[in-house]
Amino acid sequence: MSDIAVETHGLVKAFGETRAVDGIDLRVPAGMVYGVLGPNGAGKTTAVKVLATLLRPDGGEARVFGKDVVRDADAVRGRVSLTGQYASVDEDLTGTENLLLLGRLLGHSKAAARRRAAQLLEAFGLSAAAGKQVKNYSGGMRRRIDIAASIFNTPDLLFLDEPTTGLDPRSRNQVWDIVRAVVAQGTTVLLTTQYLDEADRLASRIAVIDHGRVIAEGTKGELKASVGAGSVHVRLRRPEQRPEAERVLTTALGATVQLDPDPVALTATVDGHRTELGAAEQAARALSELARAGITVDNFALGQPSLDEVFLALTGKEGPR
Ligand SMILES: Nc1ncnc2c1ncn2[C@@H]1O[C@H](COP(=O)(O)OP(=O)(O)O)[C@@H](O)[C@H]1O
Ligand SMILES: [Mg+2]
Repeated sequence: MSDIAVETHGLVKAFGETRAVDGIDLRVPAGMVYGVLGPNGAGKTTAVKVLATLLRPDGGEARVFGKDVVRDADAVRGRVSLTGQYASVDEDLTGTENLLLLGRLLGHSKAAARRRAAQLLEAFGLSAAAGKQVKNYSGGMRRRIDIAASIFNTPDLLFLDEPTTGLDPRSRNQVWDIVRAVVAQGTTVLLTTQYLDEADRLASRIAVIDHGRVIAEGTKGELKASVGAGSVHVRLRRPEQRPEAERVLTTALGATVQLDPDPVALTATVDGHRTELGAAEQAARALSELARAGITVDNFALGQPSLDEVFLALTGKEGPR
C-alpha cells in the first residue's frame, strides 16, 4: 500500500464566485489521524467531497493512494468511505436491520452480514440499542451507527467530516475512542473539525485551513513552535513587589501582563517572533531584569502555547468552541 493516503496540488473547487477550495496542497501519510482544522465555511466539507469523488475539482489535482480522484474515481471509491455517504441509515429500521441491509447491499452472505453487524454494534456500544429504531437513538448513538455503517467494509481511508459537532462531552469521548480504534486497525482517518481540542487529542498531523487555503501544516509540536509563543508564569515572594514586577515584565517582553487572582502571581504571553530571541531566551532575559530590579521570584514557568493561541496567531481570530 502507498505510504501517502492523500496528496493534492493546487486543488480548487469553486461554486460560482466562491472559491470554496482555493489551491490546497495536502499530503496525508497513511496510518494516522490527520486533522483538517478550520472554522465554519473554511472549505473542509468541499475538500472532503472532492477527495471522496463526490465533487469534481475545477483545478489542480488530487490523488488517493496514488489514484487520481477524477481519472481513477472508481479505484478511489473502492478504498474510501465517508461517514454519511453509504451510511444513509434508515430511521425506521433498527440498528441491526440497518447494518444487515447494508451488509447484503455490499454483497455479503446473510451469515457474514449478521456476524459483522453484531461485531460492530458491540464495538460501538450499541448492542443494547440494536433492536431499537434509529429514530429513537440519541445524537451520540446516531453518530456512532453512522460511523459503524461507514466502516462495515473496513476502508483504507475514512473521511470523518466534523464527527462530533453538536455532541455532548460524553458522546464526543465515545466517538474519539471509536476513531482511535479505527486507526489502530490500520485505517487512515482524515478528520475535519472546528474544535482545537479535538485536533489536539486525536490528530498526529494537522492542516489549518481558512478561506479555502492551508495556512499552516505540521505536527502539533511544529504548529505550536511555529507560532513561537509561550506563556510565562511568575510567582513573587512579596505581593507589594507586584506593581514593579508588572512594569519590568511589560517592558522586557513587550507584552500585556495579566495579574492573576493570586496576589503574588503574574502571567504574560511571549511572542517568539517579536525579536531575534526565541520565547525561552526572552523569558530568561525578563527574569534577570526582575532580579536586577531587586524583585524576588520564587517560581517561574514557561509553558507551550495552546492550539487556541496558535489558531489566534495564524488567523487573527479566536478559534470556535
Ligand atoms: N453547494 C454549494 N453551493 C454554493 N456554495 C457552497 C456550496 N457548498 C459550499 N459552499 C460555500 O463554500 C464555502 C466552503 O464551504 P464548506 O466546504 O461547506 O466549508 P466547511 O465545511 O469548512 O464549513 C462556504 O463559503 C460555503 O458557503
Ligand atoms: Mg463542513
